[in-house]
Amino acid sequence: MSMDPATLRARLIAQASEPYRAAGRYAYHFARGKLSRDPMFIGLLRLGLFPGDAHILDLGCGQGLLAAWLLSARRLYDAGDWPEGWPTPPRVADIHGVDHSRSDVTRAQLAVEGPVRFEQGDMRLVDFGRANVVVMLDAVHYVDGASQDDVLRRVRAALAPNGLFLIRVGDADAGLGFQLSNWIDRAVAFCRGYGRGRLHCRSVPDWLRVLEALGFRVETAPMNGNLPFANVMLIARLGEADGSTSGSAQLRTADNTS
Ligand SMILES: C[S@@+](CC[C@H](N)C(=O)[O-])C[C@H]1O[C@@H](n2cnc3c(N)ncnc32)[C@H](O)[C@@H]1O
Repeated sequence: MSMDPATLRARLIAQASEPYRAAGRYAYHFARGKLSRDPMFIGLLRLGLFPGDAHILDLGCGQGLLAAWLLSARRLYDAGDWPEGWPTPPRVADIHGVDHSRSDVTRAQLAVEGPVRFEQGDMRLVDFGRANVVVMLDAVHYVDGASQDDVLRRVRAALAPNGLFLIRVGDADAGLGFQLSNWIDRAVAFCRGYGRGRLHCRSVPDWLRVLEALGFRVETAPMNGNLPFANVMLIARLGEADGSTSGSAQLRTADNTS
């Protein structure tokens, strides 16, 4: 049965959050709150960025929300509940989540069922294995510049020839929006036990330079909905362009889908 996008979003938020009850009240309410507030999750589906068969490495996966979201999306799609004209959500063949926080990883392990593996570890050290999609959502600024360069090189090496790398970053050139995002990110980092140390942010042109030097073709997309933040999704691809997209992705539609 086809459904409208707003109904889809509400069903996905409910279905993807529900399993977190097994991991406690905090895990459940955090999942509901984040999936409801952050337009990135619905935006990723609206844009149809993932390949049909996705082998995903999620660096800084937190409590595994992306895995829960994508698996729920595919379940709805398989049941025939999907908006007409929307891209088919990926079939997640496997997803390997890595996070430094033991408590986040435990919550992910308790809640998310399916072809998932959540590992407590440091993205600077763990073995990335192989993947055709690597995601790093709001996590790269936790490590310093030299470590970022090294992690990106290792992501490039871990990716399949036509691989996709989705990385959401704070744009250090974005003025007040960046100050606000950065302040919130630092508060989040502090609450997660990362102390008061500074976060390591770069401007979007800097990110583009680094990624392009590694052989990625990169598009950018705002993914903040109507929130005044400076987070930008960098959509980085390996392999030849297929001519379907160019330049900065026109993602306002996705951004505003609610
Ligand atoms: C803002 S949270 C984002 C979580 C998740 N990507 C999401 O979008 O819901 C950043 C995450 O990065 C993790 N992190 C920070 N430094 C890390 C490192 N060196 N290795 C692995 N994970 C790290 C934190 O523990 C935290 O869960």
